[in-house]
Amino acid sequence: MTSTLHDCESRYGAITRFLHWGMAVLLGWQFVTILAHELLQESALDKFAWGTHKANGLLLMVLVTVRILWALYSHSQRPASVSVLARLGHLALYGLMFVIPFVALLRQYGSGREFVAFGMSLMPGFSGEKIEWMMAPANLLHGSLGWLLLVLVIGHAAMAFIHRGQGGEDVLARMIGR
Ligand code: HEM
Ligand code: HEM
Repeated sequence: MTSTLHDCESRYGAITRFLHWGMAVLLGWQFVTILAHELLQESALDKFAWGTHKANGLLLMVLVTVRILWALYSHSQRPASVSVLARLGHLALYGLMFVIPFVALLRQYGSGREFVAFGMSLMPGFSGEKIEWMMAPANLLHGSLGWLLLVLVIGHAAMAFIHRGQGGEDVLARMIGR
C-alpha cells in the first residue's frame, strides 16, 4: 500500500498538498498586505495588514525551505510535468518564493534595526553603520520580484484551469488529491 502522505506518479501526497495550499493562502495574504499598502494607504486594513508583512514573510521563508527540501527528497516519485514550460514555470515559482523573503531578511539584518516577529526578538539589531552589501539586493529586487511573483502565480492558476478545460491532464485533481 502506498502512503497517502507521499507523492506518487499519479498524484501529489498530503505533505506536498499541505505545503502547496498552505503557502498559497499565506502568499495570498502577503499580496493583500502589499495591495492594501499601495491602494488603500492609511486605511484600517493597510495599518493592520502591513503590520503582518514581515512576520508572514518570515513564515513563508521557513515553509519554502521545508518545501524545497521535501521536493528534492520526493523528486523521483512526483507526477510528471505536463510540459517543459510547466516545469520551468514551477522552478521559477520556487526560485522567487525563496529569493524574495531571503533578500528582505538580509536587508533587515543589515539595517541594524531590531526584528521582532511572533513575540520573539529574532534579530537584536546593532548600533553603528548599516551594512550596505546586505541591503543592496533587497533595495534593488525585493519589490519588483514580488510583483513578478504575483503575475506568475495568476498565470499559474489560470493554466491549471485551462489544462482542465481543454480536457488534457487534469492537473488540478492531482494537487487536490482526488
Ligand atoms: C514571499 C514573501 C514576500 C513577498 C511576496 C513580498 C513582497 C513585497 C512586495 C511586492 C513589496 C513592494 C511593494 C511596493 O512596490 O511598494 C514589498 C515591500 C516590502 N517588503 Fe516584502 N515580501 C515578502 C517578504 C518580506 C519579508 C520577509 C520582509 C522583512 C523581513 C519584507 C519586508 C518588506 C519591506 C520593508 C518592504 C518595503 C520596502 C520595499 O519596497 O522593498 N518582505 N514586499
Ligand atoms: C499562490 C501561490 C502559488 C504558488 C507559489 C504555487 C506553486 C506551485 C508549484 C511550485 C507547483 C509544483 C508542485 C510543488 O512543488 O508544489 C505547483 C503545482 C500546482 N499548482 Fe500551484 N501554486 C500557487 C497557487 C495555485 C493556485 C491558486 C492553483 C489553482 C487554482 C494552483 C494549482 C496548481 C496545480 C493544479 C498544480 C499541479 C501542477 C502539475 O502537476 O503539473 N496553484 N504550484
